[in-house]
Amino acid sequence: MSAVVLIGAQWGDEGKGKITDFLAEKADMVVRYQGGSNAGHTVVVGDEEYKLHLVPSGILYPGTVCIIGNSVVLDIEVLISEIKELKERGISIANLRISDRAQVIMPYHKRLDEVQEESKGANKIGTTKRGIGPCYMDKASRVGIRVCDLIDQDLFEEKLSINLAEKNTLFTKVYGVEGFQKEPIIKQYGEFTEEIKDLIADTSVLINDMVDAGKKVLFEGAQGTMLDVDHGTYPFVTSSHPVAGGACIGAGIGPTKIDKVIGIAKAYTTRVGEGPFPTELFDETGKQIRDEGCEFGTTTGRPRRCGWFDAVVVRHSARLSGLTGLAVTKLDVLDKLDEIKICKGYEYQGRILKDFPASLKVLAQCKPIYETLPGWKQDTTGTRSFNDLPENARRYLERIEELTGVKAVIVAVGPKRSQTIVREELY
Ligand code: GDP
Ligand code: IMO
Ligand code: MG
Repeated sequence: MSAVVLIGAQWGDEGKGKITDFLAEKADMVVRYQGGSNAGHTVVVGDEEYKLHLVPSGILYPGTVCIIGNSVVLDIEVLISEIKELKERGISIANLRISDRAQVIMPYHKRLDEVQEESKGANKIGTTKRGIGPCYMDKASRVGIRVCDLIDQDLFEEKLSINLAEKNTLFTKVYGVEGFQKEPIIKQYGEFTEEIKDLIADTSVLINDMVDAGKKVLFEGAQGTMLDVDHGTYPFVTSSHPVAGGACIGAGIGPTKIDKVIGIAKAYTTRVGEGPFPTELFDETGKQIRDEGCEFGTTTGRPRRCGWFDAVVVRHSARLSGLTGLAVTKLDVLDKLDEIKICKGYEYQGRILKDFPASLKVLAQCKPIYETLPGWKQDTTGTRSFNDLPENARRYLERIEELTGVKAVIVAVGPKRSQTIVREELY
């Protein structure tokens, strides 16, 4: 077993950073394959906490090659500051490589993200305002600027001129805000390019060489299934493909080379930003989960909306990504609860829906059907094996497995590396 894809099985922030870092100890390569600096992946090592936005969560192991793949939208300014911070903390980035095909986030993408959100008013998506949507929009419109274009000065200037002509018309005529000057962007991106040019590579070749040599490669998803532009709660989604299929396109690898797909899911559910969330809690329990779980966004600091585990969501995720295992995180956050609920289906106009509906109007009329399980009222943060977990915690996990049809191969009981229970070795 050599190639393992890790995906977020809910609405993001499931603990992908922690699980990737944990598994990266034995990996030869870690690949980020989609999204951009909208992601915030936290890795805790001892007393140190690292918040990674673009650099893969394998960077803390000096021998692990880290790749930023072709479907990542690259904010070079964020990347440079992340690299600088890592270096200051003694972390080497000698093994970091960036795809020459990745799309580059430009200043006008971030500004467009802001003005488009403002213009939507009450219908806003609640984006991270990192320019993600506008950058993917330009990619699909075939006017985007790629990393390889940055090294060709004439081509870069030509593409920038074409983009600015269109974007500045949009800014001034549609949104009534100021546009961008070309020269400062050319200067700034010239400096950026100097800083990263030695890291640029045809990363699909590097990744396939590793996999073909039987080395262990982890594909680190960002966001989560319910934020997938095709399969999530559209339009309240991001603009990329966090599902496992996204790893193939986003890294440049064929599906036949993937051995396992692990879905990372919290033992409850959270969401940041706007959009439907059937099992959301608006009461004291929701607040308790937010406080116990420190549920505040890694990228934007916004409080995360909290609710019960939704098996409809994770089943949706399991089917779309062909999950071979689950990593259930943050079980410890539920330690103090008397009772815990799991949503096993939705009631819609007198019928039971077991699959997540496409229409948000239908979803708005869905009522979660809950099953209530007893809590365990015991501290699990020091538990290191499944059998040592309190019986009710084991029962809870087993019920999640039954309802989702996927085995919980990893269980996390705290943010640290040591607070991880492995029930089945991945490789
Ligand atoms: P990601 O975006 O999926 O990587 O997740 P984030 O890093 O945005 O959010 C997960 C948060 O939960 C981080 O602060 C992690 O340090 C923390 N965390 C991860 N696993 C656990 C766990 O099992 N228990 C607790 N209490 N915290 C965890
Ligand atoms: P990680 O990788 C949670 C959400 C935003 C917003 C929607 C669209 O840390 O799990 P965007 O800026 O992508 O256009 O915003 O997606 N979102 C995330 N929510 N975790 C993330 O990443 C997210 N990345 C984007 O809050 O609702
Ligand atoms: Mg996050």
